[in-house]
Formats: sequence, C-alpha cells, structure tokens
Amino acid sequence: MKAAKVKENIYWVGAVDWNVRNFHGYRTGRGTTYGAYLIMDEKITLIDTVKAPFAEEMLSRISDIVPPEKIDVIITNHVEMDHSGSLPVVRKLCPNAVIYTSGPAGVKGLTAHFGTDEYLPVKNGDSISIGKRTLQFVSTPMLHWPDNMVTYCPEEKILFSNDAFGQHFASTERFDDEACLSTVLEEAKKYYGNIIMCYGKQVQAAWKVLEGLELEMIAPSHGVIWRSHLPAILDAYAQWSGNEPDTGAIVVYDSMWNSTDRMAKTITEAFGDCGIPAKLYDLKNNHYSDIVPDLLTSKYIAVGSPTLNNQMLPSVASFLCYLKGLSPKNREAFAFGSYGWGGQSIELVEKELEACGFHICLDKIRINYIPTEEQLQEIYDNVVKTVR
Ligand code: FEO
Repeated sequence: MKAAKVKENIYWVGAVDWNVRNFHGYRTGRGTTYGAYLIMDEKITLIDTVKAPFAEEMLSRISDIVPPEKIDVIITNHVEMDHSGSLPVVRKLCPNAVIYTSGPAGVKGLTAHFGTDEYLPVKNGDSISIGKRTLQFVSTPMLHWPDNMVTYCPEEKILFSNDAFGQHFASTERFDDEACLSTVLEEAKKYYGNIIMCYGKQVQAAWKVLEGLELEMIAPSHGVIWRSHLPAILDAYAQWSGNEPDTGAIVVYDSMWNSTDRMAKTITEAFGDCGIPAKLYDLKNNHYSDIVPDLLTSKYIAVGSPTLNNQMLPSVASFLCYLKGLSPKNREAFAFGSYGWGGQSIELVEKELEACGFHICLDKIRINYIPTEEQLQEIYDNVVKTVR
C-alpha cells in the first residue's frame, strides 16, 4: 500500500478501517481511519501508530518510503489502543528507536499496556530536533485521556493533533479539500460531541496554547488532514467548546403504544412554531451517539418515557446515562411521558435531567394512558409559553 504525501518528506502512513461500526459505543456509520505520520529527516520519525489489527497496512505504507527497521524516533501522542496498538510491532522491528511519550501519564499507560520499556517522558513545552526539523510537545491532558499530547513542527507549521480535530470518516481522500467538506464537518461535530464535549474546559485551556502557533496544517489521527479549511474547524471548536447554545431543541423519547410518541410530536411542533429549530428522535430507531451532534448545538432538550415496571424504558435510561457522562450542562430541559398506573418514569427522567446539570424549565408532563386532543393542545400551549 502507498504512503500519502503530506508535505515534502512527510507522509501519512496510517490505515483505513472501512467497516468499524461500533467504537466503544459510538456508532461509526462512516468507518474511521487511524492516522500515523512518517517524517523523513536525519532521524526518521514515526508519529503515532495504528490499531493493532492494522499494523500490516501501516508497515506496508511505511515500506513504500523506507524500510520500517530504519525508524529512529517514535512519538506516542496518546496511549489509547487505536493509536499505540501497533507500537509493539514497530518496537520489535526497531529495537533501538527512541520512544517519546508524555510523562508521567504516557509512561504509566504504555507500561501498563505493553510492559516496561525505555519510554522517554516529555512535558509541555519540551522539544527535540530530528535534523532539519524540530518537534515541540504540547500537553493536552484529558483531551480525552490523562496522557494526551499533541506535536507541533514549527518549520513545517504542522500540528499532529492526534484525537483533537479528528473525524470518524473512512475515505480514500486524505485532505479536507478532496473530500466533501459538509460530510467532514458533520463527522467532526459528531466526534467532538461524543468524544470531547465533556472536556470543554480543557479544550479552552489547550486553545490558549495553540492560538500562539502558526498553522498551515492540522494532521489528526482520525479522518482527513485540515489544510484548506482550518478556519472552519478552528471556529467550530471554539464555538462547541463554549458549550452555550442559544437556540435549537431536541426531543428524545421511546414509546410503548404511541402515547408518548404523540406527546413528543406535539412538543416538537411547538418548538418549531416558536422559531426554534427542533429535531425529534425516537430511541427505537436512533442510536444515542447520532443524537449528540444536535444536542451539542441545542439549547432545549425534552426527554420522554412511558412507565415500564415502575421504571423508565431501558432505552431512555441508556440514553440518559450516556448523556450524563458527556456533561453538556447549560441546557433547558423537561420530562414527559404517558403511563397507565404508577407513572414513576416521568419523575425519574426529570431527576436524571437535573443530574445532568440542566435547568428544568417546565414541570414534568404526565398523561394517563392516551392523550386527548385537548391535552395535546395544553402541552403545546405550555411549551410555547415556556420557550417563547
Ligand atoms: Fe482515537 Fe483516544 O483515541
């Protein structure tokens, strides 16, 4: 397989995972890539590796440029197995290569996964010379693991950003101006929402460091390389990390006999009639990770569940559990649902929305059995009164 030229003597030597559809719970409908980068300098340098089953693909792309045994330096920006999973294979081929990782978290993580080795720890602001080029390390802890760092090459004005600015997007194209930009930005938004959203404060801290860098390219470890649309992705990250959407609504629910479904559709209509763009998601037909991009840019969230065995439906519980982990906060929320007897689900949903850090803007809406036209009108009017 061929390496893809990024700049003179810099190559993408990663792997394309066309068929992955579940990335630790994130539905990756368009697959993904694992970006590894080869720099041909006095010291031949490999930045990151790929998921273990793709080691052969990476080695074949490296071999297109140089025998892998000649690698002198390996930079591990991130321990997670999609980027360091092939490190043992490269290490076996290059027993004398120097491995740099963040210290102490990177050293601890690599040792836990692969055993003891001579991992050289670097800290924020450290740099190394690989010949004509310098590699500077910028620590980005909790974006999204404690060990994360990014690597900047000032001579080339490239940031090897690892997970940041990535997209789960398998393609034959390697650059943002070769692929469909709206698709790439859609996947970047989904990636941010599902992987990075809960670390908004850390994004903003990293931002301050990155703002001082001259950038011509951002080369992430998933998806395409940014070279023509840097302002689009940088502005998007600035907006998303602020985590303060000023409009938009999502209505997320599951239903047993269509009563909660009818309530959900009425609520969605009410948002729309108030000029608030709203999306409706039935959890029977939508994966929670596909809902998150709209959550990222929505001010309102309404969640509905009928009552089953004194509980909310498991699909709704699963969505709320995932949501709580992402820590979106700064949203206006309310709960709704129909019930036959008991009706505990609606209160349980409301409690979970509160636990997410949302402000409850409308008291829980409960309907016994089937909503009448009058009750649906009342729900509509209450939503309009609340959000207008
Ligand atoms: Fe793409 Fe955190 O690994």
